[in-house]
Parts: sequence; structure tokens; C-alpha cells
Amino acid sequence: MTASDNGVVHLADYRAPAWRVEQVELEFDLDISATRVLARLHLRRGAGAAQPLRLDGAGQELHAIRLDGRALEPHEYQLDAQSLTVFAVDDGAVLETEAGLAPDANSALSGLYLSGSAGAGFLLTQCEAEGFRRITWYPDRPDVLARFRVLLRADRQRFPVLLANGNPAGSGELEDGRHWAAWDDPHPKPSYLFALVAGRLEQIEQDYTTADGRAVKLRIFAEADAIDRCGYAMDALVRAMRWDEQRYGRNYDLDVFHIVATHDFNMGAMENKGLNIFNAKYLLADPQRSSDEDYAHVEAIVAHEYFHNWTGNRVTCRDWFQLSLKEGLTVYREQQFSAEMNSATLKRIEDVQVLRRAQFTEDAGPLAHAVRPERYSAIDNFYTATVYDKGAELVRMIAGRLGETAWRRGMDEYFRRHDGEAATVEQFLAALGDANGVDLSAYLAWYAQAGTPQLQARGTYDAAARRYRLDLRQRTAPTPGQARKQALPIPLRVALLGADGRALPLRREAGAAPQDECVVELDAASRCFEFVDIDAPRVASLLRGFSAPVQLSTDQGADDLAFLLRFESDGFNRWEAAQQLARRAFERVLGGAQNVPELDIWCDTLAGLFDDAALDPALLAELLTPPELNELAQPCTPLDPAAVFAARERLEQALAQRLGAALEQRHAALLKTERGGLDGAARGRRRLLNRCLRLWLRQDPAQAQEIAATRYVLAASMSERLAALAGLLADGAESGEKALQDFERRYDNDPVTLDKWFALQATIPRPDTVERVAGLLRHARFSLRNPNRVSALLMGFAARNPLAFHRPDGAGYVLIEQALAEIDSLNPTTAARLATALKDWARLEPGRRALLQAALQRLAAGARSQDLADILRRTLGD
Ligand code: PHE
Ligand code: ZN
Repeated sequence: MTASDNGVVHLADYRAPAWRVEQVELEFDLDISATRVLARLHLRRGAGAAQPLRLDGAGQELHAIRLDGRALEPHEYQLDAQSLTVFAVDDGAVLETEAGLAPDANSALSGLYLSGSAGAGFLLTQCEAEGFRRITWYPDRPDVLARFRVLLRADRQRFPVLLANGNPAGSGELEDGRHWAAWDDPHPKPSYLFALVAGRLEQIEQDYTTADGRAVKLRIFAEADAIDRCGYAMDALVRAMRWDEQRYGRNYDLDVFHIVATHDFNMGAMENKGLNIFNAKYLLADPQRSSDEDYAHVEAIVAHEYFHNWTGNRVTCRDWFQLSLKEGLTVYREQQFSAEMNSATLKRIEDVQVLRRAQFTEDAGPLAHAVRPERYSAIDNFYTATVYDKGAELVRMIAGRLGETAWRRGMDEYFRRHDGEAATVEQFLAALGDANGVDLSAYLAWYAQAGTPQLQARGTYDAAARRYRLDLRQRTAPTPGQARKQALPIPLRVALLGADGRALPLRREAGAAPQDECVVELDAASRCFEFVDIDAPRVASLLRGFSAPVQLSTDQGADDLAFLLRFESDGFNRWEAAQQLARRAFERVLGGAQNVPELDIWCDTLAGLFDDAALDPALLAELLTPPELNELAQPCTPLDPAAVFAARERLEQALAQRLGAALEQRHAALLKTERGGLDGAARGRRRLLNRCLRLWLRQDPAQAQEIAATRYVLAASMSERLAALAGLLADGAESGEKALQDFERRYDNDPVTLDKWFALQATIPRPDTVERVAGLLRHARFSLRNPNRVSALLMGFAARNPLAFHRPDGAGYVLIEQALAEIDSLNPTTAARLATALKDWARLEPGRRALLQAALQRLAAGARSQDLADILRRTLGD
């Protein structure tokens, strides 16, 4: 892909590669500060007219260059900061380059870098999206698939473990205490899937036999102090491998599957072929140090990276515009897996929470972009909630449209057609559609159009004709660069509930077989749907299971929502009714109303459910939780974050008061059986236990704080400990400070757990948290070089603590501004991600808005990296 005007890349400019690489041999002489890389590229001319060979490259030194064994003269090639061009190359030629790298100087964590300290750390690579070019000169684009053979050489003492992609192909000793290991990957792959790891690592191992009979060694590698926390990841890996065999007929395809944990990583994890690399926080788990959420993340992300072996690696992306082809699809597969391993209802609730908190807010702001964007200037900035989570919603809609059997048939066809290829979204839709004789091309519009559709629903019942009529209307607001929007195909799962809460038989026409629920598809700006032979509907249940990623508004009243909250059998929609009710109460409170009937209805209905012994405790905990601050703030313009906070507090207060003594009783009862168990039921009860504590702290602070302080000490699990501590800190309790000191002492040597300590403090909802965070920036264990630390302290503060971050004097903005300027020169990816927390400046009330805008402008004027500059430019709307 050639970058046209000032570094912007356009989807429409895609051209097939002028040169392909059939095979590449890489030889590494590894060293912390001076690594040498020999690359031998077996080249093939691509389609079209002969062109010079242009390779990407960045940051490395060129030591030698040979074509078919002959050293090139300076006039035969041209080298600049981004590329190496060789002018006269024949089809079938072999180009050799020798490069010099300094891994210990690589703070961007892209390319070859050092994890940990020079004395004790290890070397590893990160190549997606464009890191391979920082290792050697190469056509660094995903549609160039080559066979990789890798030879690693290093000092045996310093680097006993030498790993790369594929199958092991020999190892041995060299002189001077050095050794070598060879790796051969039989599956052609794009350069972004290349990886190597070298250093002192421990391992755990397990045998696995695939459904089609291949014996595979599964190994997880980590540093010595972390290796005993890898067992759960291994367990999740085995379950994911079986699941992909059973649900998608996909077998693993190498003799080994390796995972490596690092504390220094820009993202969650990476699906390099046969050698996944994980951010330690998503791989390590143990009962004492990991929360229930951590366990769920490990399970989901281990599965996600494994599932990429087919959706991403075997079938990869033609270009980076198709990123969601692998990410959206793989997130969807991961969601299916987690739903089957745990509670499907809770999983759906959590997925929609993530979607609303991260994606809807993104889609409504200056950084809105399509799931398949049309242009980008920094691809690293497109690993977004839109590409991942909205992308997964699009796959879910399509899978739902096809139905289970047809979906599987379509996926089989997708793999059959495109195995070993770099594909596009169009090809994905075509394979799914062709396999089933349906045309899915209308869904392409979902990939191309940014913004969350607003869906309006109105129901009317004609008692005389016994007809129920549903009027649907959609509209999508303009987004940056996309003023005009088109109507999208929106599947809506619908049921009608009678006065007893039971689903009424639905018929679209007289005489048809009745269904408890049906799916109507809105395929135009507006349409009406009729159901016949309907008797006395009490309320419509719309968008069940969140059947499309839209914002639904209905003409239902608070009493209708309360009815749904009580009787709805679709667990997701039951929760959704509670959310909508809370949202209405919130809006009235925020508007200054003293008397808020919606608030009473919300509290009364929840109080009624509180004693329902049949209700799943985890679902109850979620029902008792109003939407979080960022979600509530989203429709507010001008936005006063302190007012949003206060209004939400009032909801919590009201609910706590209404629940009365039952709260303490339930808390005590749950505590009695709390043993820190990790099974789903124990985790569910603990979720409710922790929610009860939070509410009880609002009702009876003195007594609840005492219990919380004890629970911090005696906690049987990390989830319990964290909940107690967070509650105390939010209350400003003295015992909270003591507990914090204890936490720091306990986990001082454990980076993953110490990050929780930073994050806990960053999110204390009090204005003086600004000063606390400023102090923590100088803490001996804090470093702007470590993305996990930055995320815990600074992202926690900027994105999850609106009360402190948006302090009216602007001190929060200045703090982030100063940190960002520094991070920008160390790690552009991390800087750019942190900067997305500033995106909502234009919606703020005038005082804060002016302060944040000024900070953004100062930052934009000084931005050094393309990544940060891109986010700031789009955020400011220039
Ligand atoms: N491809 C990785 C995943 O989602 C994410 C990632 C992107 C990791 C870029 C590193 C760099 O599984
Ligand atoms: Zn992924």
C-alpha cells in the first residue's frame, strides 16, 4: 500500500503487491543492545508492469546488501528512513540484507525489544501492524504471504530459551558459549505474524491431541516468579482448542503451540503463528491475586488469540482496512466461547456494557469511524472498540440472520475458499451468502458507515381487529467525514408479553404457525410490522438479546419497563429494562426534579426482586447497578461531569435506602458462605456480595466501613479484597488508607497486582485524587515506559474518574497533558491511546471545555509521533 497525500492511506488506492516473497530466511545474532539480522528474501514478481523492488524499513542500520550473492553498489539501491528500493531485480532473485538493531533502546515496544531489565529481562518482538519493518527490510503488508525459516543464535547462559514461529527444526551448540535454534513455519504468513522470543524463561507443558489426530505440545513460558500462575491459562487453552474443533471443525496445525507472558506489552495479546505473546495481566491467574474479572479475561483472551489461528492467520486480511475481518470475527467467536463456558446472559450483558461504554461513546464523538474505515494515517490507532466490538456485533447480526446451521455452513465455505489467502470483508460476506443461497451484501453498509443508528419504536394495538402494529424508524447522525447516512438492515428480536408476563403467540399473517418470539428486519428508513390474532398484549419486548447495535427509544412508560423488569424471560432484556428505568430516573434527577416517580419505580421494583430466591445472584447484582458514569454522561450536552456524578450518587443513595435492612442481611448471609471459590456459582454470589457492600456503605457508612475493613483483611479472594478496599477509598475512610499501605507491602514485587493498587487510587471518586495521582507519578514503582502502569494510573484516572479528571480548575487536564508529552517520545501507541480519553472536550460545559481545548492545542503543537498527532488532529476536528 502506498501512502499518498501526507501519509494518509486510502482503501480505494489498494493495489496488489508488485513483488511477493516466496520464502524468507532470517538469521538473528541476538544481543540486548546490538542484534544482527540477516534476511534472505526469495522474490517473485507480482501482477502488473515491472517495478523496482520497494521494501519497508525503519530504524535499523544497513550493514550489507547483496542480490543473488553479489554485493550491490550504492547506485543500485536507495535507502531512506522508511524504505529500501532496489532498482533492477529479476523474477526469482534472492536479496540479502544485514541489519543492526538496538533492542534495549526500543521504548516503542514495536519490532524487537527488551522486556524487563537489561540484566534479567528477555528479548521479544511485536510486529502487528507495522513492526516487522523495524526488524528488517520487507514488503510489510498483510497480503504478502511467505514461508518463514528462522535461525536464532545467542549466548546460552543469557538466552537459554530461543523461540520463533512454526515447528522446531533443530538446535545445537556453537563456540564461545553460544547456541542456536532453528524454526520452520510451513504455513505461509504475512510479516505481522512473525515473532521471536529469547531469554531466561520457565515453562509448563501439556500434551494435546487434535480431533484429526495431531499430537501437539502446548507450552506456556514465563519468568520464574510467574510460571506458577500459568495453569489456568493452559486449562483455558485446552478448552478453546476443543471448542474450535467442535463448534467450527477447526483443528490446530503445528506440532507445538507456545504462549509467552511479558509485562511490557502495548496491547492485550498477540496471535503470532504458533507463538502467542501475552500481556502478563491477561495470562497470569491465581486465586489469591486475581479477581473474578481477571479469570474471565484470561479465559477469553487465551481463546481469542487461539481462535485467530484460523480467523486471522490461516485466513488473513488483504490490507489493514479489513482489520475487522479478523478482529470482529474473532471477538465474536471468543464471545460465543465465553458464553458457553459461563452464563450466556451475563456474558451478553457484559458485552453490551463494553459496547456502550467504549464503542457507542467512540461512535458519537470526534474519533468516530467505520468498522471498515476508508482512510487512515496511523494504523495503530485503529485497534478500536469500533473495529473489535462493533465488528463483533456485525458478525453476530449476520450469524443470527443465517441461523446456527447456515452460519456453520457459511464459515466452512469461508475457510474452504480462502485458506492460505488474504481476504476482504466482501469475500467473507460472499462466502457466507453463497453457501446458503442468500445475499448478505446489504450488510456491507454496516461496515462502511460510522455512527450508532437511533432506532425508534412505537407500538399500537387495535383491540377490535386484534392486531398489534409496530412502527420502526431509523436514523443515524452525521459523523466526521460522513455527513449523509443510509438506512441499514436492522434485525429486531421481538416478543409480546401478556398481562401474566408470558409471551403471546406471534403470527405475521393469519393461519401462520405461532412463535413466542420473532425477528423482524427493518431494511429501510421506516417500516411497520403487523402481528395478527393478538389478545391483550401488556408490553412489547424489543431488541431482545440486543439483536442489533443500535440505540433504541420506545414509547414505553416507566411502568412498562418495571413490568419487563419483573417478568421478562429474556435475561438480557430484563437487565435492559432496569438500565432504561435507571436512565430515566437519572435524567429527571439531573434535570433538577425533586420528585422523581421513575426513581421510586426503579427502587420499588428492584426491592421486590431483591428477595426473589430464584433469581441468579450475579444477574441480581447487575440489575442493582445503574449504568456507569460514562454511559450516563453520553447524551448530556453541555456536560458537567460533577453534576452527572452527583445525580448517579442520588440513584445509588435512593436504592440503598429503599432496600433498607435487607441489604445488611443479604450481605451477612452471603458472607457466611464466602470461601473464595472459583466456580461460576461462587463467582456469582460474590458479585452480589460485593454489590451489597457498596450499597450498604451508602446506607450505614459507620457500620459498613467497619465490616469492609475486616473484609479487606480476611478476604478469601482478590475480588473480595478489591471490593472492600474500593468501597473504603470511595468513602474516604481512614481504614482505607491503612489497607492501601498493606496492599502495597503485600504486592510490591508483583507488577500485575501492583497495577491494581495504582488503578484503585487513580479511580477514587474525589476531587483531590488529582494530587494523589500526581504523587503516584513520582512513586519508585511508577514508570511512563510501562504501558500497563500508564494504563492503570493514567488511563484509570482520565477515562474512569470523571469527577477528579474533570476538576473545574483544569488540574486533571494539565496532569495528563504533561504525562502525554513525555510518553509521546517513548511509546507513540500508548500516548495515542491515552489521548483518546480527551476526545469529549467539545461537549463539556464552557469552563472545562476551554481548559481542555487549550491543553489539546498545546499538545497538538508539540506532538512528535504520527500516532499522537493523528488522534489530536481528529479530536480537535481539524
Ligand atoms: N491482534 C491482537 C489481537 O487482537 C492485538 C494487537 C494489535 C496486539 C496490535 C499487538 C499489536 O488479538
Ligand atoms: Zn484479535
